[in-house]
Amino acid sequence: MDMISRSSESAETLRLLQFLEPAGTRIETLTLTSWGGHIPFMFCLMNYFRPRTFLELGTHYGASFFAVCQAIREFGLNCSPTAVDLWAGDEHAGKYGENVYASFRRIHQDKYHGIGCVLRKDFNEAAADFDNQSLDLIHIDGLHTYEAVKNDYETWLPKVSPNGIMLFHDTHVRERGFGVWKLWDEIKDDYVSFNFSHTHGLGVLALGSADSNPVIPILQTVNDSDIARNSFDHFFRLAGERAVSEAISQIKLQAIRERLPAPLLRLFRRSKAIRRKIFPASTRAH
Ligand SMILES: C[S@@+](CC[C@H](N)C(=O)[O-])C[C@H]1O[C@@H](n2cnc3c(N)ncnc32)[C@H](O)[C@@H]1O
Repeated sequence: MDMISRSSESAETLRLLQFLEPAGTRIETLTLTSWGGHIPFMFCLMNYFRPRTFLELGTHYGASFFAVCQAIREFGLNCSPTAVDLWAGDEHAGKYGENVYASFRRIHQDKYHGIGCVLRKDFNEAAADFDNQSLDLIHIDGLHTYEAVKNDYETWLPKVSPNGIMLFHDTHVRERGFGVWKLWDEIKDDYVSFNFSHTHGLGVLALGSADSNPVIPILQTVNDSDIARNSFDHFFRLAGERAVSEAISQIKLQAIRERLPAPLLRLFRRSKAIRRKIFPASTRAH
């Protein structure tokens, strides 16, 4: 291997390592969802791509949207995110009541106050609120029939920045009338793309060129061989499983704490303080 190809290979490796860096970030807010396993990828994408605008079609309880809000705060991004949903459900998510919207608004208000906009509208109606080429990152996760997702794609593609990115959830689901896989087959080769196989699939479509869209060189490296493609997919599968199980443990722990009778809780707190007095940090076994 000559010097030039060796140095371009190490530049690629460095870029990829930089991209992967936030994959271990703890999930702050995990709501009821089938999306959780993609959160580490969303953290990496947000940190590396640093979009100025993000729009989500289909928010439900908010798992993917809150991951974006967390990334904005945690990575110091100058990004304005918008959540669009009628918060009524659909034939795949199931019809649901006002409690879902109430829960979403409460968490948004409590944890991410001041970050982002909420549009309670039909997707087609919301499109009139956005200029063409004004959105850097769009996540499409509404109704998953072929007709619905094709309509979302065609309506919102003109709104994406020339070097923007579109994400499609459920690219690997082929039952219950899901048709994202079919649309994905039609569009994946029109741009540089990657399709995650885990957590029901997530398609990543990167517009523009390698010079102006920083995610394109990453996807090109990853698409270079089957080994690289599978490793990237596998890495985020494991990162997703780990992050979700950690978040679930935290939720369970919190629920236990909330149910502890007050005297017992006081006793635990006191015994911790006593332990600290008897065994100062320097003498405690680790
Ligand atoms: C699969 S859920 C979204 C899941 C979410 N991204 C998460 O992280 O769990 C789909 C949502 O899209 C909404 N939806 C579907 N079609 C819609 C439309 N045409 N306009 C507005 N909302 C819609 C439904 O109300 C539902 O809440």
